[in-house]
Amino acid sequence: MTSDWSRVQAVNFERLGLFQQLHIYGDVIPLKPFVDPVHVSQELASFSEKWVQYNPSKSQNPRQGLSVTSLDGGMSGIPDLFSLYEWSKETGKKVSERDFNKTTDAYRQCSAIRELIEPFQENLGRCRFVKFAAGGHFPPHRDGSVSFQIPDYFRILVPLANTGPDDFHFVHDGRLVSTEPGRPYLFNALKTHSVVSYRDDAMTLAISVALNQEMVAKAISLFKIY
Ligand SMILES: [Fe+2]
Repeated sequence: MTSDWSRVQAVNFERLGLFQQLHIYGDVIPLKPFVDPVHVSQELASFSEKWVQYNPSKSQNPRQGLSVTSLDGGMSGIPDLFSLYEWSKETGKKVSERDFNKTTDAYRQCSAIRELIEPFQENLGRCRFVKFAAGGHFPPHRDGSVSFQIPDYFRILVPLANTGPDDFHFVHDGRLVSTEPGRPYLFNALKTHSVVSYRDDAMTLAISVALNQEMVAKAISLFKIY
């Protein structure tokens, strides 16, 4: 298949302009809206049976997900907590981060995340809570785009329960990031990043937001330091 390189270039240039508007400020940027980890755990208590093994083909990696958004508003975790690449190979359906934009019961139940999420509401992509047992991890990777070099979304990570300095490590671009539990971090997901938990019951929230001018402006307005 030959690519239409001039179109690829135009799309990449437009996205790069937006992406750079965010990341000229830094690669890991703390945001203002605080997400109370205790409040989240309390609100999610009734969902204890709803967590699903993250990417079951890697079941030796103890991590579970709870969808805040999904393709259909359901919480089956299919395909949002699976490898999208493998799922699309099997089904022939192609989905992008931004197709996962229907909010679930977990979203409605969890008022603790509203202040952070509502500014992005109409432009949310795939969002999920992730729970780790000791040894649960996401190995070093980059979150790119299937068809273009620059993705059409940006990423926010919120370390929640049991993510203190000796419990949970977020490594970005080869460096251990010092994080505050409950603080959202907008980060450059094109640079390598990984997380690993050293204890049970660690929890994070991962958010994708559509990369457009309105969302870039909104994100900048939420920077903790400006
Ligand atoms: Fe990632």
